[in-house]
Amino acid sequence: PPVTPFTTAMPVSPVLRPVARSSTTDFYRLAIRPANLEIFPGTTTPLLTYGGLFPGPTIRARTGRAVQIVYTNGLADGSNVHLHGGYTPQDSDGYSMDIVSPGASRTYRYPNLQQGATLWYHDHAMGFEADHLYRGLQGFYVLEDDAEAGLRLPSGEFDVPIMLRDAHFDENAQLVSDWPAPRETVLTNGKIQPYFPVAARKYRFRLLNAANERLFKLNLDGAELIRIGSDGGLLPAPVPETELSVASGERTDFVVDFGKVGVGKQLVLSEATAGPVLRFDVVRSAPDPSRVPAVLRPLPALPPATVTRDITMSFDFSGATPLALMNGKTFDPDRVDYRIKRGTTEIWRIHNADAAPLDHTFHVHLVQFHVVDRGGKPLLPVDAGRKDTVFVAAGESVAVQATFGDYLGKYVFHCHFIEHSVMGMMGQLEIVP
Ligand code: C2O
Ligand code: CU
Repeated sequence: PPVTPFTTAMPVSPVLRPVARSSTTDFYRLAIRPANLEIFPGTTTPLLTYGGLFPGPTIRARTGRAVQIVYTNGLADGSNVHLHGGYTPQDSDGYSMDIVSPGASRTYRYPNLQQGATLWYHDHAMGFEADHLYRGLQGFYVLEDDAEAGLRLPSGEFDVPIMLRDAHFDENAQLVSDWPAPRETVLTNGKIQPYFPVAARKYRFRLLNAANERLFKLNLDGAELIRIGSDGGLLPAPVPETELSVASGERTDFVVDFGKVGVGKQLVLSEATAGPVLRFDVVRSAPDPSRVPAVLRPLPALPPATVTRDITMSFDFSGATPLALMNGKTFDPDRVDYRIKRGTTEIWRIHNADAAPLDHTFHVHLVQFHVVDRGGKPLLPVDAGRKDTVFVAAGESVAVQATFGDYLGKYVFHCHFIEHSVMGMMGQLEIVP
C-alpha cells in the first residue's frame, strides 16, 4: 500500500529492563516469537520478533559488567542468537550449529570485556538466518564504557540507534521472500519514511545497516555528519563527512548538530538509490552541554602478523543451482578451515573473485580487526577504526589484521550478504591453546 512520506514518527526501540541484577551481572529474558506489527498505517504485517518488537528491544550494557540473557524460542523452527561484534565465549556466540529447538530456551552470557561499541543481535540459525533476519529478528546491543562517558558526547535521549534495512512488501503489506528480486522499501527503525522530531542541539546516531544484502549511501541534505565511531567503538578522532556508506552488518556512529540548522527547519536523510528514508524536524531549542572532543579513543597498532591467509569469496554458476563459496567450498560444520593458536595476530587477504554487481561483505566472529589495505587504493572512510565487517566490492581485495583472543573453540566467518552465507559462503576457524 502507498505511504505518505513523513507522516509516521520514527520509533526508538525501548531499552530492555533486566529481570534481576547482581553485583556483577544484569539478567534478562527475551521471547523469540511471531507478532503482527504496524509498518503500513492502519494494517499489520506478520513478523518474527524479539519480545514482540521490531527492531527488537535495545540492550544497554556496560563494559566490565556481564549480561546474561535467556532466550525462549517461540518460533515453529530453530533459532539461535548471535551478538554481532561481541567478544564472546564460544558457547554463547550463537555458533551456527547451536540451534535452539522450538519451545526450548538457551542462556547466552556476555562478559562485555571490550570497549564501548554499537553491537547488534540477530538470528544465526544455520540455514534459517536469512529468512529470520528478513522477517525481523534483529536488535541493538549498545555497550558503553566509563572512558566514553567522560568525553561528554551526546547521551541519554540524544543518543539514538537507527536501524536501516530494506524489504519487499505486497499490496497487502505482507513481506515477500523473493530474493534476489530487489527490495525497494527501506525501513527506518521499522517504519517507512518516518520523521523524527529533534531539539536544536547535537545528537549522536548509531546507524546500523541491518539489510540482508545492501549498501546504503546516505546524505543529510549536504549537512555535516561527524563520524565518531565504527563497528567496534570510537574512532581515534572525529571525521566530518557529507556522505556515509554502510554495507550490510556495518555500523557507523555520527553526530549531527541541529543547533546549526535552527528551530523550524528540516533535514532529510536520503539514500543514493532509495531516496528519502527519514526526515529530522527541528522542533525546539535546548541547552547543549555535549561536545565532540578532538581526540576520542586511541587505536594502538596491532602486533605484527605472523600468519597471512588468502580467503576467496565467489559464486559458482556452472551447475543447476548456484553455489556460494568460501575458498572454493560451501560451508561444512564438520570442517575447520583455520586452526589459530590463541593470541596469534594474522593478516587475512579477502578476495571477491566475482564480477560486478556481485559485491560481498566479510564478517568474522570473535574479533575486531583493522582494515590495512584495499588493493593499494585509499581505504574507505567506513574502514577506519575497529571493524568486524568489511565491504568487499566485486573484483576487490581487502586485507584485515586481527589478534585472535582468548576464548577457545569454533567460530564462523562469512559473507554478511546473508543469503550468500546461507547458500554456503561461510567457513569456520577454531581457536586452540
Ligand atoms: Cu551478523 Cu555471523 O553475523
Ligand atoms: Cu556475499
